[in-house]
Amino acid sequence: MSKELLFTPKDLGTGLKLNNRVVMAPLTRCMADDALVPTDLMASYYARRADTGLIISEATLISANGQGYPNTPGLFNEAQVTGWRRVTNRVHQAQGKIFAQLWHTGRVAHRHFTDGEQPIAPSPIGVEGHVPRMRELTYEQPRQATQDDIQTLIAHYAKAAANAKRAGFDGVEIHAANGYLVDQFLHYASNQRDDQWGGSPENMSRLLLKVIEAVNQEIPHVGVRLSPAAYFNMEHDPRDVAVFDYLLEQLNHQEVAYVHTGIFNDVPHDYLGGTVTQYLRRHYKGTVIASGSYSAQSGAEALERGDADLIAIGRPLIANPDYVEKVRNDTALIPYDQSMLTELV
Ligand code: FNR
Repeated sequence: MSKELLFTPKDLGTGLKLNNRVVMAPLTRCMADDALVPTDLMASYYARRADTGLIISEATLISANGQGYPNTPGLFNEAQVTGWRRVTNRVHQAQGKIFAQLWHTGRVAHRHFTDGEQPIAPSPIGVEGHVPRMRELTYEQPRQATQDDIQTLIAHYAKAAANAKRAGFDGVEIHAANGYLVDQFLHYASNQRDDQWGGSPENMSRLLLKVIEAVNQEIPHVGVRLSPAAYFNMEHDPRDVAVFDYLLEQLNHQEVAYVHTGIFNDVPHDYLGGTVTQYLRRHYKGTVIASGSYSAQSGAEALERGDADLIAIGRPLIANPDYVEKVRNDTALIPYDQSMLTELV
């Protein structure tokens, strides 16, 4: 099978033409400075990968109280906007395109990072375990978000999107995957509310739909990352699939640039009737980005089968800044190794 399909352009909406179908997956690197401002080193790191069709930034905080990991960047103050502008300038100079992934960790935030503020979540249900790479910080029970908290969250997403636009991003991706705040609203294990934000597919989808609506007012291109197969800091509940069936049908009628699979290994699940990406494709009529352990070869095959329109690549792009060139030239890739996370290359 030829990999040529990976190198065909893709139109992602008005004024946004991607040069190829390789997307850089969002990858948290914990390398922002202590004020959560992106550094020049980060600008160089992203610029080196600007020959991918689209870069999705590492998860970026919409507000200080959403932080759950050290040195993750934000988009909620002017210094951060200025820092990100240096990143987007460098990417654009290299003819690349870049979206900001907007993030709030919800119940996996930690007081250590939030000035002592207790994490908020749909329901007061905590996760077991400790903050990765900071074993001394164990997770605690979150506080149930009030009606006011939820309105503030929506406003913070909108403000972060407006900041993303000012910082020069081409669009944003709402991080609604991987067990973080929005995903916590989409699963029964973490959302046991009985008000308009929980208890039914319609109510559980409401936060994400409101966030998309608000963010769409601020920046033209808005993608969404989803994890219908709960797999990280989340337990699967057989009722969840009805939530995603409903949500995806709603997304067919919203202005959305794409839907993007959030998972580490895109394998079939009985309850989804195939891989996560195939499930998204069946229910969502617009652009689909596959991700989860794809190689250039298996990615091209997924494009050929029609499972997806774009392929996001994560770990191989950490190991190989020149991934696109190597794949194009059939040059061997350096295998990813976790030890590579300590340095931004
Ligand atoms: C991730 N992933 C991830 N996902 C996300 O939505 N936002 C993020 O900030 C991160 N951060 C992150 C950091 C690191 C070090 C890894 C390895 C992964 C998940 C990532 O985007 C991708 O879905 C997975 O890595 C699977 O794709 P690959 O790596 O198999 O191509």
